[in-house]
Amino acid sequence: MQVATTGSSLREFLRKSGGPRVLVPTMGAFHPGHLSLMQRAREIAGTQGSVIVSIFVNPIQFDRPNDLAAYPRPIDSDLAACEANGVDFVFTPSPEAMYLPDRSITVTENLLSRNLCGATRPGHFDGVCTVVLKLFLISACDVAIFGEKDFQQLAVIRRMVRDLDVPVEIFSSPTVREPDGLAMSSRNARLSPEHRADAPRIYQALTRAAGLTSPADILSGARAAIECSPLARIDYLSLVDAETLQLASTLRRPSVLAAAVFYDDVRLIDHVAIPVDFPS
Ligand code: PAJ
Repeated sequence: MQVATTGSSLREFLRKSGGPRVLVPTMGAFHPGHLSLMQRAREIAGTQGSVIVSIFVNPIQFDRPNDLAAYPRPIDSDLAACEANGVDFVFTPSPEAMYLPDRSITVTENLLSRNLCGATRPGHFDGVCTVVLKLFLISACDVAIFGEKDFQQLAVIRRMVRDLDVPVEIFSSPTVREPDGLAMSSRNARLSPEHRADAPRIYQALTRAAGLTSPADILSGARAAIECSPLARIDYLSLVDAETLQLASTLRRPSVLAAAVFYDDVRLIDHVAIPVDFPS
């Protein structure tokens, strides 16, 4: 495995590599969810292709300075995890190498990023699109893999690739959960033991409410199940069309029930799919 800290050294490493180049963009602090993406990347790249993992805590996608400062950065164990999971190249640039002080170009998606995390984290998806496009260009990847856990991010990136004719094929991989249902996240490590014990209620609330029969019942059922904990504070709880990510007022099209919940300053997101309710 080779580790590059600048775009030019990564390109030099990749010059001699053959087969498909498969990129897994990450911010590090790996858990089994990230490892599942690396394993999928290895399958897609095969023995001839290359798996590239980028580890970059992207400052321009953080809306809260404390969240950026507190983001875990266990680089030694992350590199060991890459090595153990068949990664060929790791790209770990510095913020200064990625962003010049007078940079003046940003990629903005204007529709799918309006609701959910886009509404409560201003500028977040501009930061995500900008860094992901840069990582695609630096690595010249053929394929990139993203987790379904961040389903709005996945939808926004697919839209960017479609609308800007970016020659990268996007694959997705299912959400990996703890045995108690909590979606794995690098932020889970920052939960207090009490908050960690309470946090599985997010997924439970969403899955139970998903079985209800009207949008109003689904939203009020999930809200009540989360808010009955004095520890959890809802950032948003929304029912959106699965394709357009616009607010859904009926169940006539596939939709998604999504939530972001704060435990102190740790913000967790999760979602469940809601099946179509055909009128009888
Ligand atoms: P990060 O949060 O590190 O996530 C990296 C990738 O891992 C994303 O595609 C995310 O959806 C996926 N992932 C996270 N938790 C997962 C889980 N429990 N199961 C399956 N996949 C999971 O997402 C980002 O970084 C950044 O926004 C990034 C795309 C790297 C741009 O900076």
